[in-house]
Amino acid sequence: MSSDSGQAIDTLFQEERRYPPSAAFSAAANAKPDIYDEAFESFWEREAHERVTWFEPFTSLYEWNPPYAKWYLGGKLNVAYNCVDRHVEAGRGDRVAYYWEGEPVGDRRAITYAELQDEVVRCANALKALGVGKGTAVGIYMGMVPEAPIAMLACARLGAPHTVVFGGFSADSLADRLNDMGCEVLITQDEAYRRGNPVPLKTTADEALAAAPSVRKTLVLRRTGNPVPMTDGRDHWWHELATDGSPCAPEPMDSEDLLYLLYTSGTTAKPKGIVHTTGGYLVGVATTHNYIFDLKPENDVYWCAADVGWVTGHSYIVYGPLCNGATSVMYEGTPDFPDKDRWWEIIERYGVTILYTAPTAIRAHMKWGPQYAAKHDLSTLRLLGSVGEPINPEAWVWYHEHIGGERCPIVDTWWQTETGMVLISPLPGITTTKPGSATRPFPGVDAAVYSEEGNEVGPGGGGYLVLRKPWPAMLRGVYGDDQRFRDTYWSKYPNTYFAGDGARIDHDGDFWLLGRVDDVMNVSGHRISTIEVESALVDHRDVAEAAVAARADALTGQAIVAFVTLKGGVEGSVEKLEELRNHVAEKIGPIAKPANIVFTPELPKTRSGKIMRRLLRDVAENRPLGDTTTLADPSVVAELQDRGAAETHDD
Ligand code: PRX
Repeated sequence: MSSDSGQAIDTLFQEERRYPPSAAFSAAANAKPDIYDEAFESFWEREAHERVTWFEPFTSLYEWNPPYAKWYLGGKLNVAYNCVDRHVEAGRGDRVAYYWEGEPVGDRRAITYAELQDEVVRCANALKALGVGKGTAVGIYMGMVPEAPIAMLACARLGAPHTVVFGGFSADSLADRLNDMGCEVLITQDEAYRRGNPVPLKTTADEALAAAPSVRKTLVLRRTGNPVPMTDGRDHWWHELATDGSPCAPEPMDSEDLLYLLYTSGTTAKPKGIVHTTGGYLVGVATTHNYIFDLKPENDVYWCAADVGWVTGHSYIVYGPLCNGATSVMYEGTPDFPDKDRWWEIIERYGVTILYTAPTAIRAHMKWGPQYAAKHDLSTLRLLGSVGEPINPEAWVWYHEHIGGERCPIVDTWWQTETGMVLISPLPGITTTKPGSATRPFPGVDAAVYSEEGNEVGPGGGGYLVLRKPWPAMLRGVYGDDQRFRDTYWSKYPNTYFAGDGARIDHDGDFWLLGRVDDVMNVSGHRISTIEVESALVDHRDVAEAAVAARADALTGQAIVAFVTLKGGVEGSVEKLEELRNHVAEKIGPIAKPANIVFTPELPKTRSGKIMRRLLRDVAENRPLGDTTTLADPSVVAELQDRGAAETHDD
């Protein structure tokens, strides 16, 4: 092990608050401390038998030919059978699988496992009628309607790999993905609802299809009922075609058959089709879902407030929870429609016990204020989760106090589209949590922090997060691009997965994620991570959200520029600016003091809610913006450019 001086990132932020589990939680928890003692092989073998029903047993646990892994070799199974049919066969058909809440108030459905089975079979029969069989690639471009998971499960039932394209993506993005996978069928809907307005999915899909000649047929769900163009011979209404409920046997699939591709949009380059297969993926997501969310399927009402279009939706709205027989909430719309208490009203109505969301959503609620949550009874909640970005300690504590009533453990789960399943997270009932730390690798996961040269960085030091052993749900490649797979993840260190995230391990062995390594700043020779400066800013009582980026500086190499949103929509001032700079200096040291602060009502984010620091760098450097097509709201950066020009304050 190298000393702290071998670190690739300097670490400044010290968070001292500790939250040990309560005795009552620990006593009833699914995970017991000895879970960490079990050998890697026996852990993944036992879990595979416990979580999944195999049509034919696997004959060997895994095979590792870096960078390609195979898991549960020889095993045969069907994901839809595991997620739906076997629960019905076991007499649990009356259990609710999804409480679905539409965005228009009062639009609700409760779907039991028996009803889910029936709908999946009807959809699968409709797809069959359109010529879909084992191996036919299917695109899914839908909003947050129950038919989205139904469509995914219908594909899985037939052995047809799917790619779900987030409903906020443009026609071009959709066409790129359909073409890359060679999809033959597209499942979509007339329109979706978003903040009270219809989103024209079918019209956008039509535009995409004009540039995606492999798509022969579409299946179109009627959601809003507004008229949309239908092309004769190509387009079919779901309600007209998905009427045949006669048995449709789940296709026995090999463990390593393709289950789905999910495209990650890189910064500028062509999106990568991340490959996920069947057996290892299902074991990985079901196992992590069981222990990390401490799921008690008979009692819990679980809500993952992500979109099915992201990997979080795949693994923890659809495949993990359904495999475990969970009752979930699924919500169609935005958190502020018709008002900012919509989420809390939903939690109260369904008695939600477990809530899983993203730091960006938590910071939005922080910005709006705790009065919205305070209007509702949230006492059923017993566990909270976070995913998608490092969570600032103040946002963590806010979540803990105002949503969790100071009684709910928080699981800060680190993972990626590529990892398929959570890899670093507290286990509730065991882990003493620390705001801002994802704590420990999941049992059977070998994570470490490396220096630039590939030495392990010792406690306290910052470096690059790597994974040294394969895990069941890991990506099986980048679709059609072996070289890109090797270059992106396997070229920095031999036979070791490079995650592209900075991290440090503290003296207790807990991991602190430091953001994407591309975002690290270099100020006077100190390699400073964005998240630490941002967390120091968010630590100030008036700050709701902050993002930092570096610009070139003649003296220090790079200088830090901060973009700050104040709570309650307050505008910034010169006094506030000085106060915040001093706050950062006090909290983590003068080296991290931002040279400039730009106050802004909104930060530029991707459609999945991650702050786009790359664009902030362009604003900070006063240069033309790079690719803005992955932004959720392009008007935000234009405004920032104006503000950046007007409000620059240098030392
Ligand atoms: O930078 C890390 C961040 O999100 C990236 C993965 O993004 P994506 O593939 O879109 O998947 C998001 C949902 C799993 C990671 O490389 N990230 C995700 N979770 C955390 C996180 N950063 C810090 N802490 C987390 N808990």
